[in-house]
Amino acid sequence: MTSIKETRKFYNLSPPERLERLRTETKLSAADAAALSGEDGLSIDAADHMIENVIGTFSLPLGIARYFRVNGRDVPVPMVVEEPSIVAGASFMAKLARATGGFFARTTSSEMIGQIQVLDLDDLPSARLKLLAEKDALLAEAARVDPVLIKLGGGPRDLEVRIITASPIGPFLVVHLVYDVVDAMGANAVNTAVERLAPKIERITGGRVLLRILSNLADRRLAQARVTIRTAALAFDDFNGEQVRDGIIQAWAFAAADPYRAATHNKGIMNGVDPVLIATGNDWRAVEAGAHAFAARSGRYTSLSTWSVDSSGDLAGTLEMPLAIGTVGGATRVHPGAQASLRLMGVDSAAELAEVIVSVGLAQNLAALRALATEGIQRGHMSLHARQVAIAAGARDDQIDALVERLVVDKMVRIDHAVAILEEWNGEEHD
Ligand code: MEV
Repeated sequence: MTSIKETRKFYNLSPPERLERLRTETKLSAADAAALSGEDGLSIDAADHMIENVIGTFSLPLGIARYFRVNGRDVPVPMVVEEPSIVAGASFMAKLARATGGFFARTTSSEMIGQIQVLDLDDLPSARLKLLAEKDALLAEAARVDPVLIKLGGGPRDLEVRIITASPIGPFLVVHLVYDVVDAMGANAVNTAVERLAPKIERITGGRVLLRILSNLADRRLAQARVTIRTAALAFDDFNGEQVRDGIIQAWAFAAADPYRAATHNKGIMNGVDPVLIATGNDWRAVEAGAHAFAARSGRYTSLSTWSVDSSGDLAGTLEMPLAIGTVGGATRVHPGAQASLRLMGVDSAAELAEVIVSVGLAQNLAALRALATEGIQRGHMSLHARQVAIAAGARDDQIDALVERLVVDKMVRIDHAVAILEEWNGEEHD
């Protein structure tokens, strides 16, 4: 027998009902459900150990993006974000993508770069060659820093030496330590390793080491996603599929050609990326920095995504960006909500998490472009707001959709108007 719950749409349920539905669909434990609901989230003691001068914790809404299929696996996606329309937009695009198998994603490697700035050198080319001649010894020294990471298959992989020919202080040398951090975000491992190498580098070159720090331009740790949307599925209201498909490509072309538009376009991508980073306790500032630096890698800031027509006439999208994230260590380890989010998604590695996140970024970009190239984004915002108003006015489940439509058509998304319409409808039912 079909239960009442199964006949009701996820977005029409109350938050506890949604959580319950999620528990029937996944293996989410009671403890993880309590962590995600906020009932048993980050304790003040744990928070007090995370940063300085703690006086409390700060809550944000946690929503679930539905319908995501990534590399053939269904994934409920937790998103922590304050902006309306994001969760709905991602879910809707993920639903459209299911007809072609969803999102296909991969990562390049889990290598991060640590930078060492070497100053006070007269002969930069000779210093560079001296360092390269000692590469094996330097890598062996770096490998001594974190035996646990080595055991897990990580560790130093390469050493590169760059000459910065022009800077406000003149030329200097930069050593790049390439370090495989496996499932960690990597900042701690890499920063420790570059600090460890500094004295040896000074001895070899006779120079003075100043900065020893990870680079957030994690261009060896890229995540890539692609998706195909059937053109017919893009049709809605008075827009046919071809119009929507071509509008999306024209909107993308604007971002590809113009940095002013590219910044907003990429912000739309990060609307999908950041909420999952936050839900999983990851450093979203690091990912933001890496994404925008990567978007400017050609010397001109541009779109992180691409949109085109494939050989079948369908819409094809790709997204490639650095994703320096972890599933171990840091806030991911300490925050019960972050742990529960990872278990909810069923991701076992940082690479798998990156594959989900890059797919959500691509879905979010599509949602924004589809709206912008057709009805504009305000109508979607208005419908969501109208839904909240309809529920607050006491609409029954079977009345919500119709009431939302009426409030939007009337251009009066107000509780008094919603109550008046419901009174009229309910009065008619009793006549
Ligand atoms: C708003 O948060 C995001 C958008 O501006 C993204 C875009 O313009 O592509 C809608």
